[in-house]
Amino acid sequence: MTQHILVTGGCGFIGANFVRLLLSQYSDWHVVNLDKLTYAGNLENLADLASHPSYTFVHGDICNRALVSDLFRSHNIQTVVHFAAESHVDRSIVGPGAFVETNITGTFCLLESARKFWLEEGQGSGKNRFLHVSTDEVFGSLGPTGYFTEETSYDPRSPYSASKAASDHLVRAYYHTYGLPILLTNCSNNYGPYQFPEKLIPLMLNNAQHGRPLPIYGDGSNIRDWLYVVDHCEAIVRVLEQGAVGESYNIGGHNEKKNLEIVELLCDLLDEKVSALPSGQPRRSLITFVRDRPGHDRRYAIDAGKIERELGWRPRFKFEEGIRQTVEWYLTHRPWMDNVLDGSYQQYYANMYANLVGKPEYKI
Ligand code: NAD
Ligand code: DAU
Repeated sequence: MTQHILVTGGCGFIGANFVRLLLSQYSDWHVVNLDKLTYAGNLENLADLASHPSYTFVHGDICNRALVSDLFRSHNIQTVVHFAAESHVDRSIVGPGAFVETNITGTFCLLESARKFWLEEGQGSGKNRFLHVSTDEVFGSLGPTGYFTEETSYDPRSPYSASKAASDHLVRAYYHTYGLPILLTNCSNNYGPYQFPEKLIPLMLNNAQHGRPLPIYGDGSNIRDWLYVVDHCEAIVRVLEQGAVGESYNIGGHNEKKNLEIVELLCDLLDEKVSALPSGQPRRSLITFVRDRPGHDRRYAIDAGKIERELGWRPRFKFEEGIRQTVEWYLTHRPWMDNVLDGSYQQYYANMYANLVGKPEYKI
């Protein structure tokens, strides 16, 4: 029987890849995508699927209790996968308010709606799941050795990670207090198609292609554990289908890299694939060390042993393969990047959905 799944933030980077995975490989799900279309939400990411029979888009805010409760009832939502968030650390430093609002209040609003519908109104079943998508940044910063496990104490250090940590605590509290069937995932840095070009990899690719400076924070020796976005989405499906209720699972790529290494690799791949810079210099010459990010976490590294042992998940993509595919995707989707950069993607909703304005589900 078809199950209705509420995906929040499905027009963002990971959410869009996740919706694509569900619609291409899981015919028993009907996806209801609730997205506010902030600067990071882009309808073009799912434009080819807009009229898919198993897909409904709802333009709205997860903080809108009336809208969210109404969606649970009108679509008989039995599963939630919650991606919607303010997700960029640098923006959280400049303006933390939106992070508190969306990441904490928005998660609270979803939890309350699920609790009311599934538990108080008795519309739930043993199959209900509320999967909260979180980040390894809640664990803080590692020294040169060690890994984050599911038992690592929380130690968030930016307004972004603090707001995600708060939302994780709320999600767990709803399990212990009310018995809400939650699942939690904490994942490392994703890369791949549809990532907004404020994040390291698409930003550097775009600048390097145009011969612009490549701004590396500090000395470039901060370390992240990179995972191809499709691997993350597949891990989420695995947790949804086989994870034990109330548990959290760390997801990572076994792939630690210094930022400088990543940027040098991107430069080399571009030198190989596109025409040389007018100066004739290799693209590495564009690397520019700039003032460090305040509170910049030194190293993240995930121990993904639990999800591997208990659910049999491991990343499918080797980094060398995933990063080549990613570079290729950005090179062959230049109009996508141009639309994002000149802001015209934000007009897309108005144009595409003009005939729907006024219908309740398409309003914020
Ligand atoms: P993103 O910034 O690309 O997308 C966020 C999406 O949420 C956008 O479509 C945006 O319009 C939507 N949104 C924001 N506020 C909303 C609101 N109030 N109501 C409804 N929709 C709203 O983010 P992403 O990189 O795809 O990350 C998705 C989730 O995964 C986040 O929760 C993030 O914390 C988590 N995560 C990201 C990474 C990563 O490397 N990007 C790694 C681990 C975990
Ligand atoms: O670890 C998971 C997290 O990964 C997610 O929870 C976040 O949503 C996601 O944005 C990402 O956070 P980071 O801060 O690690 O990603 P970002 O792409 O912003 O930066 C990656 C590294 O590159 C970080 O050490 C900062 C550095 N950096 C970033 C930018 C944008 C630079 O040196 N220069 C830059 O211009």
